[in-house]
Amino acid sequence: MTLSSCWAILDFVKRKDGARRARPCILKKIDRKKESSISTCEILSSPLNYGGLTLKNRIIFAPTTLGLSQEEQLERLRQIAAGGCAMIILGDVPVLPHGFGPSLYTKKGRAWYRAVADAVHAEGCLLCAQLHQSDSNIKAMLKYIPGVLTKRISMEQLRPLLNQEVGPYITGLPTRKIKEITEGFGRAAELAVEVGFDMVQVHGDRMCGSFSSTVFNHRTDEYGGSPENRARFAVEAVSANRRRLPNLPIDYKLAVRQENPHYGNAGVLESELGIFVPLLEKAGVTSFHVTLANHEELADTIPPARHPEFGKEGCFLKFCDQVRGLTRLPVCGVGGLTDPEFIEAQLKAGRIDCAAMSRQLIADPAWPRKVMEGRPKEIHRCVRCNKECLGGMMAHRGVHCIYERKGS
Ligand SMILES: Cc1cc2nc3c(=O)[nH]c(=O)nc-3n(C[C@H](O)[C@H](O)[C@H](O)COP(=O)(O)O)c2cc1C
Ligand code: SF4
Repeated sequence: MTLSSCWAILDFVKRKDGARRARPCILKKIDRKKESSISTCEILSSPLNYGGLTLKNRIIFAPTTLGLSQEEQLERLRQIAAGGCAMIILGDVPVLPHGFGPSLYTKKGRAWYRAVADAVHAEGCLLCAQLHQSDSNIKAMLKYIPGVLTKRISMEQLRPLLNQEVGPYITGLPTRKIKEITEGFGRAAELAVEVGFDMVQVHGDRMCGSFSSTVFNHRTDEYGGSPENRARFAVEAVSANRRRLPNLPIDYKLAVRQENPHYGNAGVLESELGIFVPLLEKAGVTSFHVTLANHEELADTIPPARHPEFGKEGCFLKFCDQVRGLTRLPVCGVGGLTDPEFIEAQLKAGRIDCAAMSRQLIADPAWPRKVMEGRPKEIHRCVRCNKECLGGMMAHRGVHCIYERKGS
């Protein structure tokens, strides 16, 4: 199911509830003496050809729905851009006119995206639109909204309820509707470029991920069954981008499912990457953003330090290694990347070409600048507590960080 649908519902609920304010937070003391100094960030600070675009360095702000007012969001994105990362991926930009969130198809929505692009570009940073199509049946979602608004249904209860709807929805989606959605990816990409985005990321979880997975996809037509058939939806979405915009850099958020132990229901099984990756590349993907697939349990894709399987720095890099073995395209790692020395070592070893960070740049937007200016000890290191970022989101306060009280 549908973490982003939950987020979309959350945003909807927040709008209905009226503005809520950021809550002051508790500052966790970090032992700075334990931090090692870094001698070099040679590769990290070097440019990269990313599907024809030049990234000025190897740090990307991972797609992150912020759950803030537009004004707060704009300021946060501006700060992140000013902090020195090469590109921001704006999370969950709806593919179709009637999705949740600002729409590329309305004047108001376009004005918002243009304002984001202008703010980010003014700080010398690129902007990528994460093209997102929910795998939730909107009608099924709407029936739960009164319960959420009256707090009879908590977000924790909502997620499994929405999950139950995904399989039947994906399996029963008429071919005509599928074509409309995959074409929508192409139209959304055109509109995104028109308002100032530099590239797009096709969100390979959500609908693409659910079509990819036998857990949700029980179709018997050309979109179900074999891995090639299950890849067809994502391939058509990417192809629609490529057909309309022959030179557009297209990133693919490749959500990988782990079987042993089992993590993730939507997305691509490790054993099927060898089929999906070449097909996506052939369709026009120019880079892969590799992560674990699981939008049912947030703590698996946004793992806290105490997570039993993915609690360590660079927790999803093993999936990057597998993708690296299948393509020469740039591979972007994400997940628990916070330590400059560690990241430099992964770049040097060729495991990844660039590193995406969500929580670390929430904790300290100036991470890239501090590293490149030789001031790593000044970094507010994300401790992966999830208290005020994911926690803030789930509690309808928007995304914040334990460091905010210090005004940093
Ligand atoms: C508050 C929050 C919101 C997120 N929103 C999105 C989103 O809209 N789309 C998406 O693909 N991933 C989203 N993610 C996942 C991140 O892109 C990233 O994959 C994950 O947080 C792991 O990276 P990190 O350890 O650097 O935080 C979100 C993560 C957080 C913490
Ligand atoms: S970004 Fe989130 S996980 Fe990281 S320190 Fe701040 S509150 Fe904790």
